[in-house]
Amino acid sequence: MALLGVAMLAVAASSGSGFPMLGLGTASGVRTAHVAGALELGFRFFDTAQSYEWGYREDEVGEAVAASAVPREEVFLQTKVHPDDLKRLAAVFPASLRNLRTGYVDALLMHRPGPGWQAAWGAMEQLRAEGKVRHLGVSNFDVALLTELLDGGVRGGGTGAAAALRAPLAVVQNWMDPFHQDADVRAFCAARGVVYQAFSSLGNQWQHMRDLGSSGGANPVLAHPTVNGIAAAHGVSPALAVLRWQQQLGVALIPASRSPQHQRELLRGLGGDGGSSFSLNPEQMRAMAALDGHEPGAPRGDDTSQRQATFRNAAKAEVELFWVDEAADREVSVGELAPGQATTLSSHLGHRFVARGGGAGPEGQHFEVGDGANDMRVEDRDEL
Ligand SMILES: NC(=O)c1ccc[n+]([C@@H]2O[C@H](COP(=O)([O-])OP(=O)(O)OC[C@H]3O[C@@H](n4cnc5c(N)ncnc54)[C@H](OP(=O)(O)O)[C@@H]3O)[C@@H](O)[C@H]2O)c1
Repeated sequence: MALLGVAMLAVAASSGSGFPMLGLGTASGVRTAHVAGALELGFRFFDTAQSYEWGYREDEVGEAVAASAVPREEVFLQTKVHPDDLKRLAAVFPASLRNLRTGYVDALLMHRPGPGWQAAWGAMEQLRAEGKVRHLGVSNFDVALLTELLDGGVRGGGTGAAAALRAPLAVVQNWMDPFHQDADVRAFCAARGVVYQAFSSLGNQWQHMRDLGSSGGANPVLAHPTVNGIAAAHGVSPALAVLRWQQQLGVALIPASRSPQHQRELLRGLGGDGGSSFSLNPEQMRAMAALDGHEPGAPRGDDTSQRQATFRNAAKAEVELFWVDEAADREVSVGELAPGQATTLSSHLGHRFVARGGGAGPEGQHFEVGDGANDMRVEDRDEL
């Protein structure tokens, strides 16, 4: 029995399309016992993925759901195809069904774009036609890729003359937090009737970037004075203030939590009646909007060198991006960028980066963070 008596609330708080608007993320070390506890408290929507190297465990989500008294049809299971498996999506998908101990998943997302993503969408449409998936979605897509998907005639494996998708795009899962508000993709989703689902709402992406000279120490989102001021005004935690702000913008939420106390707080604060018991007023909403693009973290003394840099892979192949740690004479990988993909990093004036592999050519392509807009593009070498 649900401790809070809110067993259905997380499901009831859904979009018009029936897509749930509040679930539990399960990266960040969420394990069987945490999922089991969340089910007991009333969570009914779980986000997982095939990429175990990022902390997901589909099999543990499946184990917890199978052991629970909650019927499978009351649970919404969302998983994502591993980025390395886009070209063999149909072959790897049955493993997700086995791991999750189910005959169908409620939502299947492409974890991020990569070579062959158009054909992967076609394979996802086929799985939906076979009744193995209810909703389709993508993750880490920008407006250009979403436009190609919806308007470019991506169907059954190719991009051709405009043709309707065989299955609707139900959800886009992207990084959104107060410093990275992803406004253009949210606007695109709102205009096209697609659910926008935020990941890392609570600042986890900035925590991952600490090595790049970001604030370090306290979580820069949850420590920010604006967030704390709004939280104090409503007598809630900074985490709840951030998530409620997103909820008021119509964003679907999947915060990760291993703590029963936090899980309970999330359901109490965000789950009831499709909304919450408190609301940010227009002035507080404007204050949150004004944080977009800010360098996260409290300024360190008189350090005015902090900058944000956006790297976009405009080449045809995947590249790997490195921060050049000149002091230690080494290159530190910051991740891979699929064609068309962009990432925004927290850095400092004069920091250097290099893109290697694929279209970047044998020498790599080098960038230095300057005083300007810091919009860096990786181009195919032969087109430079
Ligand atoms: N598609 C993608 O590429 C992608 C990338 C990243 C994440 N995701 C998905 O999005 C989910 C969420 O993102 P995330 O894991 O990066 O992190 P997140 O939700 O931004 O933050 C998780 C952290 O917030 C803490 N937290 C949760 N509720 C809290 C509360 N009420 N008060 C204070 N702290 C609280 C958790 O600590 P406790 O455990 O102590 O509660 C945990 O350390 C992931 O689990 C995953 O499902 C997708």
